[in-house]
Amino acid sequence: MTASNTHSTFPRLVVLSSFFQLLSAVCAFAAATPGTAVDLRCEHLTNPLGIDAVRPRFSWRLADDRRGARQTAYQILVGTDSLALSQGRGAQWNTGKVASDQCLVTYSGQALQPFTRYFWRVDTWDGKGVKAASGLAHAFETGMMSAKNWQGAWISDTRDVKLKPAPYFRKAFETAKKVKSARAYIAVAGLYELYLNGQKVGNHRLDPMYTRFDRRTLYVTYDVTAQVQQGKNAVGVLLGNGWYNHQSTAVWNFHEAPWRARPTFCLDLRITYEDGSVETITSGKDWKTALSPLVFNSIYTAEHYDARLEQPGWSTANFDDSKWGEVMYRAAPSEQIVAQALHPVRNVEPVKARSLKKLNDTTYVFDLGRNIAGVSLIRVKGPAGTVLRLKHGERLYANGHVDLSNIDVHYRPTDQSDPFQTDLVTLSGRDDTFMPRFNYKGFQYVEVTSPVPVALTESSLVGYFMHSDVPAVGRVQSSNPTMDKIWAATNASYLSNLFGYPTDCPQREKNGWTGDAHIAIETGLYSFDGITIYEKWLADHRDEQQPNGVLPSIIPTGGWGYEWGNGPDWTSTIALIPWNVYLFYGDTKLLADSYDNIKRYVDHIQELSPSGLTTWGLGDWVPVKSKSPVEFTSSAYYFTDVSILARAAKILGNEKDHAYYSALAQKIKAAVNAKYLNAETGLYGAGLQTELSVPLQWGLVPDGLKSRVAANLAKRVEADNNHLDVGLLGTKAILNALSENGYADVAYKIASQETFPSWGWWIVNGATSLYENWPIDAKSDISQNHIMFGEIGAWLYKAPGGIKPDPQQPGFKNVLLEPHFVAGLDQFEATHDGPYGTIRSAWKRSGREITYSVTVPPNSTATLQLPIASGQAVYEAGKPLKTTGPDGRVGAAGSAQRFGLQAGTYQFVIK
Ligand code: BGC
Repeated sequence: MTASNTHSTFPRLVVLSSFFQLLSAVCAFAAATPGTAVDLRCEHLTNPLGIDAVRPRFSWRLADDRRGARQTAYQILVGTDSLALSQGRGAQWNTGKVASDQCLVTYSGQALQPFTRYFWRVDTWDGKGVKAASGLAHAFETGMMSAKNWQGAWISDTRDVKLKPAPYFRKAFETAKKVKSARAYIAVAGLYELYLNGQKVGNHRLDPMYTRFDRRTLYVTYDVTAQVQQGKNAVGVLLGNGWYNHQSTAVWNFHEAPWRARPTFCLDLRITYEDGSVETITSGKDWKTALSPLVFNSIYTAEHYDARLEQPGWSTANFDDSKWGEVMYRAAPSEQIVAQALHPVRNVEPVKARSLKKLNDTTYVFDLGRNIAGVSLIRVKGPAGTVLRLKHGERLYANGHVDLSNIDVHYRPTDQSDPFQTDLVTLSGRDDTFMPRFNYKGFQYVEVTSPVPVALTESSLVGYFMHSDVPAVGRVQSSNPTMDKIWAATNASYLSNLFGYPTDCPQREKNGWTGDAHIAIETGLYSFDGITIYEKWLADHRDEQQPNGVLPSIIPTGGWGYEWGNGPDWTSTIALIPWNVYLFYGDTKLLADSYDNIKRYVDHIQELSPSGLTTWGLGDWVPVKSKSPVEFTSSAYYFTDVSILARAAKILGNEKDHAYYSALAQKIKAAVNAKYLNAETGLYGAGLQTELSVPLQWGLVPDGLKSRVAANLAKRVEADNNHLDVGLLGTKAILNALSENGYADVAYKIASQETFPSWGWWIVNGATSLYENWPIDAKSDISQNHIMFGEIGAWLYKAPGGIKPDPQQPGFKNVLLEPHFVAGLDQFEATHDGPYGTIRSAWKRSGREITYSVTVPPNSTATLQLPIASGQAVYEAGKPLKTTGPDGRVGAAGSAQRFGLQAGTYQFVIK
């Protein structure tokens, strides 16, 4: 599935041009009306193509900057006749006018049909009852909807998993009539590139996204109306191995995955002619196959290409395929062939080489100036048969050569033929261009070596930053340039680790490590619109969960990880990810879809650990120096999962579960506190940073003791010279535990350190991404692109920015605004584009005075809590803010420092 704003075209312009004229008139009118619904999404995507959702979700926000802007009613119309719909007719689902401020509504009309383009509109009514019609050009198109609707066959070239070259497939066909529209549906076990008449279709990379192939296989839909010609055509497919046929050998044994096989695909090219008839060109025995110039491809290591073996025009109609071989039928890889409904991976950003060092006539080192995940593209000319080696790495040896020793440690090659992160390109003698199709790497440097002298310049090579192309939805900017660089590095590592599933690092592993992902969930969601990726990844969780509830530590997996690293401190993803998606989007679907799985998981731990304490887990991974007891941190995560389950039960209307799991949560809390808390001193365990911050973060501390524990934590930090002494679990907790409990200045002190150990220490030493270990010269665990210490990205929004979702009104329906004007910063700004629009929280200090600017999106409210020193007051437009009553208008909500805000933009002065 893909979004139309990327590369596809909607039905032919000719057909729709008159409709669009009419439409633009409607839109022009609509845009002028405040309160118009804009940014219409279906399944959290813009104009998605090829969805299977039986009850798709519709969402929108209002364009309305009036103070107090709100929606009092909506009406949704869905139908297949766009023109009629623009006139308010012809709807197959018409909600009627619904008195509601909701902006996320699930379809509940008559059954949607496959292969059908539906249009939809939403009209809204504002606070005064004035109606605004949405612009219309919003569509979604259903895909297969059911596996029964496939017509093609699964085909492949052979069964031999050891065969290295990637196979081409092709079929020529003719269309006798005028094409009205055409869609390609392609399901693949492995990876693919689809071609029509010599052109690659679409701009996705590494499709389909990685799933547990024997349980669930994804298909992708393309609008190929513009590529299918009347007359002669040809369709071509190039298949790559991906995670399906893992030929490289490493410690996680993906080469022994139960699903492993030679890649295979099924394709339906569905053509609708002007006369209304439909013809489907399908994969089957009438296809031909041949090996391609891609002589080796591994998602894990690299790609090898022999440009001498190119077959120009292989996917065009007139190509002579008489020497090509027969294809064979294959069983479908799984029973679930479902639509890929997410933002795809793309070559999102080209990164030019910042410098080129010629070490000698045959060796060059390109430096991109920043660490990325992705590929390099090289343009080069040299004698035919010359094999160039392109070694990609994150750091250099003192002699200037690329050093892979920090990232090749888990690789177990069986011979020399598959060097790590090293593409091998055999030149043709002509001008050659090479970029891997079915591999990506983590790197900043590329060392190119050639057996004979070769001429390269800085522009011979360009890097492409690849990742799931999730829209950016947040920005942070401050008066501290190092802090801004930490934020940028956090985003770089977050995105470097997002490829349709979250990974730990893009080089050494590319594994869907659960722990790393739940640590990063808030950091991700504040800055990027990630819901579609997490919905897919939680489906991967459901595929992997054992009947008894156990989850593997890496997801997806070929089997590794059910036995190691999969305690609650890691696999709490099953609860934490849906919960955070609920908080950020106000959408209950993922929580509901995961509910039984959370329950199974929690029930399993309860069975193993009836006392409420569990020792199952890895604990505070890669700590600075001190390690807290595993039982303590794992039990805290167990408590967190049970608490989320209890809250989910309430939200989903299951009172019995709510009562049961609330009581279980209390029991675990009591057990943890009985063993680890000294109520006299307010210390947990030995009083380490992690021991004091984890219970504050996850709500284990009895109310009456919170301030004692927080004060102890602040003291502990001071004793540690205001530097971190935590690992992965402690990093998630420490900044929040401090800033949520009266010590935001202390949190900022730690966050802004530029000496070891700190984030700033990496940055002042040249890091552009986050590292896996605090010491830069650590001997092990030193990938330079890990997201696991990335909570600081979220903390910047939450503490100096103060923007937080309100669990009572999730999806930022009500925004909790609790900025901390921390000592050391003079200016700070955070914005987050939530479901209702852009939330902005910005402040500037001059002397003792703070100017605080805030925007609350239309149709939402905010609860503002300001830190006001004694003797100070809050002013708006020169007047002190007064208490005005409980109706949500500016005024006190209990304490003198809490104000309820309606939608709108405000500027406050605190002096
Ligand atoms: C990964 C980590 C992961 C850890 C679990 C490492 O190899 O890179 O990020 O969470 O293993 O122990």
